[in-house]
Amino acid sequence: MDRPVTDAWIGESLLYVLRERLGLAGAKDGCSQGECGACSVQVDGRLVASCLVPAATTAGSEVRTVEGLAAEGTPSDVQRALVANGAVQCGFCVPGLAMTVHDLLEGNHAPSELETRQALCGNLCRCSGYRGVLNAVREVVTSRAESADAAAQSAADAEAAAADAEARAAGGTAPEQAAGGYPQDAYPGPSYEAQPHAGQPYDEQAHGPGGHGNGHGDYGNGTGHVPAQASHDGPRIPHQPGPPG
Ligand code: FES
Ligand code: FES
Repeated sequence: MDRPVTDAWIGESLLYVLRERLGLAGAKDGCSQGECGACSVQVDGRLVASCLVPAATTAGSEVRTVEGLAAEGTPSDVQRALVANGAVQCGFCVPGLAMTVHDLLEGNHAPSELETRQALCGNLCRCSGYRGVLNAVREVVTSRAESADAAAQSAADAEAAAADAEARAAGGTAPEQAAGGYPQDAYPGPSYEAQPHAGQPYDEQAHGPGGHGNGHGDYGNGTGHVPAQASHDGPRIPHQPGPPG
C-alpha cells in the first residue's frame, strides 16, 4: 500500500515518520540509538532499526511494519505463538521481537536454538526474558513443517489421482493393467496354471480315467473297504480278492 509523505524534514528517521506522520505506532521508540530493537521493521525485506534509518533513504522502498504481519485482522502465527508461550508481559518489545522472528524464519525455516538466540540478540526484553520467545519460534517451526508436509502429501495424492484418471481416459485401463497386469502376489495361493485339471475334458476332470472306484466297475475292492485316495485321478488300486465264503 502506498503511503506518500510530503512534508517530512530531510533528517527525520524512518521510525519518526512511521509513528508521527503515518500513525503506524507498532514500532516502538525504546532507545533512539539502535540498542533495543523495539523499532525493528523490514525495508525491502531487510531487518533494520528504524530509529537509525533516515526516512528519505527509504523513498520508493517497501517498508513492512508489525501492522503488516496480520492478515485481514488475524495475527500471524508468530504473533499467536508469542502470546501462547507467555513471551508477552508489558508488550513494549514484542513488535520488534515479532518482526525479528519473522525475518529469521523467512531466511531460515528451521533455525537451531543458537541461531535463534543470535537473531534475537539485538532485541531487549526487560520483562519476560527470552525462554517464551525461543519456545514460540520452535512451535512455529514445527507447525509450519507439519503444514508443508500435509500440503506436499495432498499435492502428491492429487497428482496420482490425476494421472490415474488420465490413464483410464486414454486407454480404458488402470495404470497397473497397462503396465503388465496385476501382480500375482496380490492373489496368494496356487496360480491357475497349477490346477491339476487344467486342459483336460470335463469328464476326466470330474471322475478321473477310472471313474469313482478302482477302475473295475464297482466302489469297493472286494475287502468291504473303500481305501482313501489322494485324488479322483490318482493311481489305480489293484483288485484284492475278498475273504472266502
Ligand atoms: S528504538 Fe531503535 S533500537 Fe531502540
Ligand atoms: S515484554 Fe516488556 S520488555 Fe519485553
